[in-house]
Amino acid sequence: MRELVRETALQPSDLVLPLFVVPGRGEKREIASLPGVYHYTPDQLPAVAKEAYDLGVRAVILFGVPEHTDATGSGAHDDNGPVPVGITSIKDHVPDLVVMTDVCLCSYMDHGHCGVLAPRERGPGVDNDRTLPVLAEEALCHARAGADVVAPSDMMDGRIGYIRDALDRSGFYEVAILSYAAKYASAFYGPFRDAAKSAPQQGDRRGYQMDPANATEALKEVRLDIAEGADFIMVKPALSYLDVVYRVSQVVDVPVSAYHVSGEYAMIKAAAERGMLDERAAVMEALTSIKRAGAKLILTYYAMYAAEIMQQSQLPKEQG
Ligand code: PBG
Repeated sequence: MRELVRETALQPSDLVLPLFVVPGRGEKREIASLPGVYHYTPDQLPAVAKEAYDLGVRAVILFGVPEHTDATGSGAHDDNGPVPVGITSIKDHVPDLVVMTDVCLCSYMDHGHCGVLAPRERGPGVDNDRTLPVLAEEALCHARAGADVVAPSDMMDGRIGYIRDALDRSGFYEVAILSYAAKYASAFYGPFRDAAKSAPQQGDRRGYQMDPANATEALKEVRLDIAEGADFIMVKPALSYLDVVYRVSQVVDVPVSAYHVSGEYAMIKAAAERGMLDERAAVMEALTSIKRAGAKLILTYYAMYAAEIMQQSQLPKEQG
């Protein structure tokens, strides 16, 4: 009877699998800060993409981890970079899998910030408006390689409209935009910054990411991005912000996504490894709660793990 009256049903197609892509060939290396998560060279992506697709996962999101960084983030729009090469290699082998890409400059900049730094005389911080053209170049580079969805995670103002315009003018009107619209300045990104080598060398991201104390502000951020042309929006992180997921999903008419981020993954992993939590039960409870709060899409490093559990539970129950 519990199943009969269940209000929230998680499906593999609700999940988006994040994948870290490094340059080179023939390597799949586990990330120290994220056990069970790997750095893949582009040629290794089709295998994991196929595995995810066969489990019912319908989308992946690629994060580039380049070998070299510079002061202008030029690697972000290099057509031979790991992300564009990775997109093409997935599309060649698993054409029906939706390929999303994270659009941000932090892992391509030598200073590790998500934008171009402001001139020294203007004090510390990023130069919002000088960052927009670089983000647009990055989005175009991913679109040229065949990305279905670009996902700007930098939190600069006006970037959704700017990128939409750049995509349309180059004929990429079918490439959708998933906006990291309400992205908080969170401690839960720690393991990711190791994985993406994207920690700021100086200062922090509070100049552009949101204050964890604010929720009404998230509604404003989300509305602005939708007005600028976002096709989906995201709240990030997920579990500490379920109230924000809920409030946002009550007022918008685009699909809402939530990112179960690296620190949230790491907490369950670490506790499970020490025998403090039942990993399977904890993962399914966490992901179900994110969906219950109003997210249609959940970005999670547990995507394949959870999809596999769902697939097993579809099997007919044994008698007795
Ligand atoms: C890049 C970016 C971050 C994450 C996704 N895109 C890190 C940050 O803003 O510092 C975090 C993802 C995670 O923790 O799993 N701007």
